[in-house]
Amino acid sequence: MAKYFLLMILGYLTGSIPFSYLTAKFLGNIDIRSHGSGNSGATNVLRTLGAKAGAIAFILDFLKGFILAVIGKNLLGIQGGVIASTFVVIGHCYPFFLGFKGGKGVATAGGTIFALYPLIGVILMIIHFSITGLTRMVSLASITVAASFPIVSFILKKHISFTLYALCLGSFVIYKHRANIKRLLSGNESKIRFKK
Ligand code: G3P
Repeated sequence: MAKYFLLMILGYLTGSIPFSYLTAKFLGNIDIRSHGSGNSGATNVLRTLGAKAGAIAFILDFLKGFILAVIGKNLLGIQGGVIASTFVVIGHCYPFFLGFKGGKGVATAGGTIFALYPLIGVILMIIHFSITGLTRMVSLASITVAASFPIVSFILKKHISFTLYALCLGSFVIYKHRANIKRLLSGNESKIRFKK
């Protein structure tokens, strides 16, 4: 029981490290929350500071999810992986180090999924890249991937408890995109343009 508790704390605190915010601070000397969509996530760093900064923010947010899920899985099996994943995503979205106002969880959740079930990660990544490439609307790709996660888990015959977890995580990520959904419905969602 103590191991599970430690995993939750470690997951939450690691998730709370706001890499997108820090990347924007170090590379652009800006508070990313006052720019673009106002989200402290890799997409907004990309939108505001360009591809290099966006890639760095994405990799760091992805890696914190990946590493925590690996630790959880190695310590306590798939159950430990799921617990670590849950708390690292919660930490990312409600970070202790940033007034509990964080990102939308996509890169970090992506890292956890790659660590737990790489094939699901690859399938979701292909969906994400395809939709982003076609529409240049990252939010639309993220929402579609969030909705696809439990379906892919079900099709690949993962344990029902993992598919239910996928349903919860996917629903949560969609909930975090509610402002994007309003903009998408009104035709006002911004498209990614790559700065030099
Ligand atoms: O991963 C976040 C992305 O789906 C949307 O980001 O900045 O357009 O709200 P943003």
